[in-house]
Amino acid sequence: MTERLATTPLLRVLTGKREPVPPIWLMRQAGRYLPEYRAIRQKAGSFLDLCFDPKLAAELTLQPIRRFGFDVAILFSDILVVPHALGQSVRFTEGEGPRLDALADPSALRRLRPAIDHARLASVYEAIGRVKRDLPPAVALLGFCGAPWTVATYMIAGCGTPDQGPARLFAYRHPEAFAMLIDLLVEASASYLVRQFEAGVDAAQIFDTWAGVLPAGEFRKWCIEPCTRIVAAVRKQIPGARIIGFPRGAGTELPHYLDAVAVDAIGLDWTVELGFARDQVQARRPVQGNLDPLALLTGGAPLDRSIDAILEALAGGPFIFNLGHGILPETPIAHVERLIERVRKGAA
Ligand code: CP3
Repeated sequence: MTERLATTPLLRVLTGKREPVPPIWLMRQAGRYLPEYRAIRQKAGSFLDLCFDPKLAAELTLQPIRRFGFDVAILFSDILVVPHALGQSVRFTEGEGPRLDALADPSALRRLRPAIDHARLASVYEAIGRVKRDLPPAVALLGFCGAPWTVATYMIAGCGTPDQGPARLFAYRHPEAFAMLIDLLVEASASYLVRQFEAGVDAAQIFDTWAGVLPAGEFRKWCIEPCTRIVAAVRKQIPGARIIGFPRGAGTELPHYLDAVAVDAIGLDWTVELGFARDQVQARRPVQGNLDPLALLTGGAPLDRSIDAILEALAGGPFIFNLGHGILPETPIAHVERLIERVRKGAA
């Protein structure tokens, strides 16, 4: 671990150090904007077949590292493998996104297993071992899971929705059943992350993509509290486990998240104002973010301006350059190249 710390920029930032050139990676860096991803995707049966094929998952994890030389490789998988390992049916339909057997009412929770079935995730752990063998030592391997709230929104609605209304309604109407589902996901996610660390990831990110649709009180109950418990449970088994939190859309609730959730760094979405990010967040914890994916898609002067503003505000402290959410499939490769060059040159 000490050896990896010395050679791996991401891990140095996660211990609170400022890197002269901030490490850079992009959420969804393995994906449809890459021709080499589309080539493999076309041949594979379904998206989940890809996730559960250890050789292909390892290959897809490594593709953006080979092409761009990112500082971090994020495991190629999906947050919805956890509901799958809890016995819920999960499918991905082309162009439509995920489809699950919706949990329409409290009685539907009985269809779930009482605990995560690691046998269903064995190929994920195998993929981690494969990636580790091929990854340059300076590149960190990042595992991940979805936060309980975000995963629950898909489990309840059975698909993505604009504001995750079905899960919010379920939580208001059936708070006890909803709390049981969240508890199940806390246990499952912590145990899933522990296995990922045991298989070799250097750090992990908890994606709370839908944190921003909740009123503050509900945010504390369904996002802050469960994530606090996951971090504590993982560290009980893996002391010193490095974890990044990404509560997208948390806005002015970010300081409260930091008060409770003992993450080593916090991912900021693109709406977070940079002065607030520096003074209220980075003053307390390393930060990651927060380029607007649409600025990257646009390129040119809007991209350069956005990059420079972020570096100006955040590169003076412990900082990981990233997008404020996943890269969009239409993003030109040349814009990604320009971004990396500017971050590495501009900050040097
Ligand atoms: O970041 C990476 O490169 C690693 C892999 C990764 C994927 N999904 C691959 C993926 C990660 C970290 C995720 C996380 C994920 N998955 C989240 C949280 C982060 C976020 O982006 O909000 C969520 C909410 C999901 C659920 C999910 N998976 C949705 C809603 C969709 C459909 C929308 C879409 O972008 O296609 C997916 C599909 C998905 N996950 C793809 C990839 C590469 C596209 C699948 C395809 O090729 O058709």
